[in-house]
Amino acid sequence: MPRLNSCLLLAVSLLAFLVAVCQGTVKITVTKDPVSGETYLRPGGNIKLICTTDQQGKLLRWEVSDGNSTKSVTAIDSKDLKLSGGSNEGRSEIDLSNLSGDLGGTYICSDGISQDSYNVNVLDSKTLIPVHVLENGTSSTVVLHCRQRLQPKLPLIWLRNVGDKDYILNHIPAEDKNYSVSTDEASGYPLTIKNTRRYPSKNGAYTCRLNTTGVAGFEDGENIQTEVTYHTTPDVRFGTEAASASRSKSATKDEPLTLVCVVSGAGQNPIQWSRISENGTKILLQNGTDERHYITRNEEFENRNESRENLERTSVLGFNTVLDEDKGTYVCETRNEYGVASQVVELKVKDKLAALWPFLGIVAEVVILCAIIFIYERRRNKSMVDEEEEEPMKGGDIVVRETRETTTRSRK
Ligand SMILES: *[C@@H]1O[C@H](CO)[C@@H](O)[C@H](O)[C@H]1NC(C)=O
Ligand SMILES: *[C@@H]1O[C@H](CO)[C@@H](O)[C@H](O)[C@H]1NC(C)=O
Ligand SMILES: *[C@@H]1O[C@H](CO)[C@@H](O)[C@H](O)[C@H]1NC(C)=O
Ligand SMILES: *[C@@H]1O[C@H](CO)[C@@H](O)[C@H](O)[C@H]1NC(C)=O
Ligand SMILES: *[C@@H]1O[C@H](CO)[C@@H](O)[C@H](O)[C@H]1NC(C)=O
Ligand SMILES: *[C@@H]1O[C@H](CO)[C@@H](O)[C@H](O)[C@H]1NC(C)=O
Ligand SMILES: *[C@@H]1O[C@H](CO)[C@@H](O)[C@H](O)[C@H]1NC(C)=O
Ligand SMILES: *[C@@H]1O[C@H](CO)[C@@H](O)[C@H](O)[C@H]1NC(C)=O
Repeated sequence: MPRLNSCLLLAVSLLAFLVAVCQGTVKITVTKDPVSGETYLRPGGNIKLICTTDQQGKLLRWEVSDGNSTKSVTAIDSKDLKLSGGSNEGRSEIDLSNLSGDLGGTYICSDGISQDSYNVNVLDSKTLIPVHVLENGTSSTVVLHCRQRLQPKLPLIWLRNVGDKDYILNHIPAEDKNYSVSTDEASGYPLTIKNTRRYPSKNGAYTCRLNTTGVAGFEDGENIQTEVTYHTTPDVRFGTEAASASRSKSATKDEPLTLVCVVSGAGQNPIQWSRISENGTKILLQNGTDERHYITRNEEFENRNESRENLERTSVLGFNTVLDEDKGTYVCETRNEYGVASQVVELKVKDKLAALWPFLGIVAEVVILCAIIFIYERRRNKSMVDEEEEEPMKGGDIVVRETRETTTRSRK
């Protein structure tokens, strides 16, 4: 027992010693030029980060994080970043000169056991990393991010330029559901855009600007900002004639049919119809290649009430008479400078009589039912007549019933 206790004691003290040795052995000290005690720095200055460790023979490594990913400082190619020392000296230095936002981030120095970090927060437009968005034309909500190489992050002011005027989207009342700006630092103060129409009329450039209110030295309203773009592929849908939700459409054989494709956000780019053949190849359908099919436009399906870029256009694929061979998969496709968009419809061809079969079935059912009732009724009347005839020679209930049964059987 005493031996186990002393063993435990030794283990605990060894652990405590290790923790004491490992903690705080790496340390970053900083010198700045011009000297300032601010969290946020002006561009153009210099900063020197000196990392030391009291672990002998340990190699010091530097990494920098922009808030999303971390990379080794040696991978940074900048004439304004100079790395010195590091190999077994217990000391390594980073000299950042002519500071700019793209040199900013969290600098982490590590000797493999412990580490220390320092946030280099430079307030210029390069400290902002726009995250451009390319979405489908049908998306109803989109979130725009503007990342910051700052720790802590500053609140963002989001702006939208319409005509010659910048609108501050933070100030749009909440009941107007077009835009909302997050107040959450952890998520990075993103902008949420809500599209009220199917095709977004709100695509294009947005500005994110650091709100430097309350940051010492930056109160004079400097616009530290960048542009974030939101672009979409066109919106393609089928008009009311084709079921767009089920993606399938039934046609009746030997009758005419139209498939209406409505497109917005495609500018003047062509709308193309094609058919997927049985072997999977796409066959482009063109106007006038045969007599049974045609391609035209139906403006009745077009919403002319939108701005020019979102103007809807239609392409109608018409069948003069539908044949069995027309069944299959049809694709309506268009593009804009941001990409291709398409919709697919499965065409099913039914026989003219096919629709009638259920009805005929019901009719047949009714006829058979009527016949059964009629026959039954007739039989009942007949047996009642038999009964009346039997009455005079009545000898008891059982006898009468037997007689009735024999008469029924003999009629079969
Ligand atoms: C975050 O970093 C990953 C890789 O480290 C990169 O693929 C991704 O695009 C980055 N995200 C943003 C929003 O920049
Ligand atoms: C400092 O950086 C700015 C832009 O970041 C550049 O215009 C200028 O020439 C640089 N100055 C020196 C001395 O490298
Ligand atoms: C657009 O939608 C299609 C499916 O409809 C999807 O495969 C594609 O990834 C989407 N593209 C974007 C940019 O969201
Ligand atoms: C918000 O959306 C509605 C409906 O589309 C529109 O009438 C209104 O002008 C929009 N407001 C702003 C600030 O864009
Ligand atoms: C910037 O931040 C200050 C302080 O939080 C706030 O009062 C002000 O409204 C913000 N500016 C904008 C344009 O949102
Ligand atoms: C697929 O079928 C079409 C006709 O339906 C034909 O023109 C084409 O050559 C075929 N392709 C292959 C790879 O078999
Ligand atoms: C297709 O051809 C018909 C008849 O030649 C014509 O009226 C129609 O405008 C054409 N459609 C297109 C999209 O060119
Ligand atoms: C836009 O729509 C409204 C109502 O839906 C209609 O009264 C008006 O005439 C339309 N304007 C155009 C240019 O089509």
